[in-house]
Amino acid sequence: MTNPKILIGIGGGIAAYKVCEVISQLFQAGAQVRVILTEAAQQFITPLTVATLSRHSAYTDKDFWQPTHQRPLHIELGEWADIFLIAPMTANTLGKLAHGLGDNLLTNAVLASRCPILLAPATNTEMWEQKAVQRNWQLLLEDERYHSVGPDTGLLACDRVGSGRMAEPAIIKTTLQSLLHTRGKRDLLGKKVLISTGGTREHFDSVRFIGNPATGKMGIALALAAVHRGASVTLVCGAIDPQLIPNLPQIRPIFAPTAAQMQQAMEDNYLDADWVIMTAAVADVKPVRYVEGKLAKQDLPSSLELTPVPDILAELGKRKQTHQLLVGFAAQTGDIITPAIDKLKRKNLDAIVANPIDLPDAGFASDTNQAIILDRRGDRKEISSRTKLELAHILLDFLASF
Ligand code: CTP
Repeated sequence: MTNPKILIGIGGGIAAYKVCEVISQLFQAGAQVRVILTEAAQQFITPLTVATLSRHSAYTDKDFWQPTHQRPLHIELGEWADIFLIAPMTANTLGKLAHGLGDNLLTNAVLASRCPILLAPATNTEMWEQKAVQRNWQLLLEDERYHSVGPDTGLLACDRVGSGRMAEPAIIKTTLQSLLHTRGKRDLLGKKVLISTGGTREHFDSVRFIGNPATGKMGIALALAAVHRGASVTLVCGAIDPQLIPNLPQIRPIFAPTAAQMQQAMEDNYLDADWVIMTAAVADVKPVRYVEGKLAKQDLPSSLELTPVPDILAELGKRKQTHQLLVGFAAQTGDIITPAIDKLKRKNLDAIVANPIDLPDAGFASDTNQAIILDRRGDRKEISSRTKLELAHILLDFLASF
């Protein structure tokens, strides 16, 4: 969706300051952003802050009660929004929403809207764990239009470590982008997706290795997209920055920095998976000899004897079950189609994503990518340059229609 209309309701909690970052990032990504602040929210941040960041007037309860000839503000805003984010959502706002109450601009705008709503709760741990709060939370989430992000566990502003921390701005933004793509549908509910991501490393001493520049961003984007649509994901991570791995209950990460470890992890989890997607850039060879410790410069070999590593995907292809979809990625330079079709057939895949790595803004480490999806029926789908999250959703759409 280009220039989506995003309505943000800010509740009264210290995490309100973090929502400023969300507003800023969404505006920079091309969204139209309108913001409602509750009375309590204005104790933490000002309407001027969010108006400046969103490049639009901010709304408060004063606007709600203005005598005017125009249509009521909560109706206008509720109808305007493609998606509604409530962050931070306090226990008070949660209680009102769970029971269909509207006593301020934010809660009335919720009642007047039909779009998906993303809730990002933030409270102190005791408050979050109260039975009444948990009852309200479960009650609200029974309604399909409500989606949740967080709360996380961590250090809270009350100096306690526990649950109740608002989800990080980057995760909130990604979840919103997913919901905008799917319009809130949970079409992968109950699906188990196994994804490999990142590059593998094959060491010849403790510090030196054969590897590649893969960062794992494509596989992580796929994991997030799948989870946002209701799936549960096992994410087999090659040698990637652990900080990049999303901390979500629906994503189970397994660290597998070498091809042998990745093969083991993929095989251990293969039979249980419905969809298996190998985005990992597996180093095709490994050094024949490995030396423990760091070799001194004068002891480095003048040439390396190499031996191939197993083709993980081809091995999985041999054991594919009828209920499974098996997907590979083919990072290529030059002609991307011919070798991809060859790999599709050779590895017994259902689909392969051929992506160029010699174009700007595509391939390793980039936040964007472009690709052609080819499948075993002979269908193909060309995807122009876009974020890896969007490309992930298009691939999932493609697999869902298989
Ligand atoms: N792959 C794998 N095990 C390997 C090599 C590749 O599972 N040892 C998987 C990759 O994860 C990817 C697909 O196979 O999903 C295609 O990888 P690619 O490197 O493009 O293909 P190769 O078969 O290695 O062929 P080549 O390097 O000759 O292009």
